[in-house]
Amino acid sequence: MLLYVHIPFCEKKCKYCDFNSFALSGEYKRRYLRDLKREMEMYATEEEIDCVFIGGGTPSILNSDEIRELFKYIHENFNIADSAEITMEANPGTLSCDKLEAMKNVGVNRLSMGLQAVQNEHLKYIGRIHKYEAFLKNYNDALDLGFENINVDLMYSLPHQSFEDWKETLEVVCGLNPAHISAYSLILEENTELYEMWTRGEFEPNDDDSDIEMYRYTIGYLATQGYHQYEISNYAKDGYECEHNKGYWKCEHYIAVGPGAAGYIEDIRYNNVCSLDEYHEMVELGKKPIDSKEYLTLKDKLEEKIFMGLRMNEGIYFEDFKRDFGVDFMSKYSNQVSALEERKLIVKDEKGIRLTQKGREISNSVFVEFME
Ligand SMILES: C[S@@+](CC[C@H](N)C(=O)[O-])C[C@H]1O[C@@H](n2cnc3c(N)ncnc32)[C@H](O)[C@@H]1O
Ligand code: SF4
Repeated sequence: MLLYVHIPFCEKKCKYCDFNSFALSGEYKRRYLRDLKREMEMYATEEEIDCVFIGGGTPSILNSDEIRELFKYIHENFNIADSAEITMEANPGTLSCDKLEAMKNVGVNRLSMGLQAVQNEHLKYIGRIHKYEAFLKNYNDALDLGFENINVDLMYSLPHQSFEDWKETLEVVCGLNPAHISAYSLILEENTELYEMWTRGEFEPNDDDSDIEMYRYTIGYLATQGYHQYEISNYAKDGYECEHNKGYWKCEHYIAVGPGAAGYIEDIRYNNVCSLDEYHEMVELGKKPIDSKEYLTLKDKLEEKIFMGLRMNEGIYFEDFKRDFGVDFMSKYSNQVSALEERKLIVKDEKGIRLTQKGREISNSVFVEFME
């Protein structure tokens, strides 16, 4: 079982981001922690939790006392395995040695730092609150305090970002030798400032061909630096794949708390309300702050297992489908598998199937082939 805790606050909204987070005063943060305590109590369980992920938003916006308080609630309500991977997202510009020490003391053993690019002009354009130098200081402080499992988030196909800029970002970051790198192609999400800027003609988005070129370069370059790709956008040094994300792609059950969080327990997927006030009101009434839920049928679970599993380079295993669903994969999907193999989008061996590089580049069109 996995646990996801959402911290829906950011100092300032980045121009590209549509995650559920708000730039609000400390008052809201304090009320939120009290609400979170109540919501966690509603999900309290003896079942062992293998991974904890504190995501956001900006979890490192919490001060040291609040970080300790958050973990007190987590331990009061959940049985966290001694060996659990415990990740906290930590944004440059909101981190300090005090906070890093508090994280270390409560058992955080993996940090995920959002950098995005090493050129300050790009950071400014996309609305990040920090410069590269602030990231570097936080990163080095984290290393000094003994964090050795650090992820760095990066983005390519940013407005006005040249291929050379992206190469420089990869080179500089690899020079720091983090354990893990996530590299995302920018998605222009509706309802973001960047989307508005695009519709006003303020920049020309990267075209598909050069986006794919950047993607191919990323995979190749990171491999030369000792990072193997294990999912569409994720690369790790040996032994440092993110267990939490893998659990998610393997469709394991997870408890998710916080506004906008999405969980999956006993075959039911649920989405929490996004509004902080609504979340507060529901929790105060002793109700789980759920906005919608869906019971997954066997067909839903089967399809999810395919498209989530295919995100990972290792792909999906026939024996899992036999064990979990009593389904002989190749009898059910032989037509789709043959057609996709012929188009060189997947490869098959006696154990299972996985995407080829070409398949990863157009993964969504592969996934739909398995939907009924
Ligand atoms: C859940 S976000 C939050 C991380 C953290 N708050 C931060 O910004 O450093 C995780 C990562 O998703 C990526 N991301 C967010 N919005 C994106 C978008 N519109 N397109 C592509 N990647 C995005 C960024 O790299 C970001 O660091
Ligand atoms: S990218 Fe991260 S810091 Fe920026 S608004 Fe989104 S969640 Fe907040």
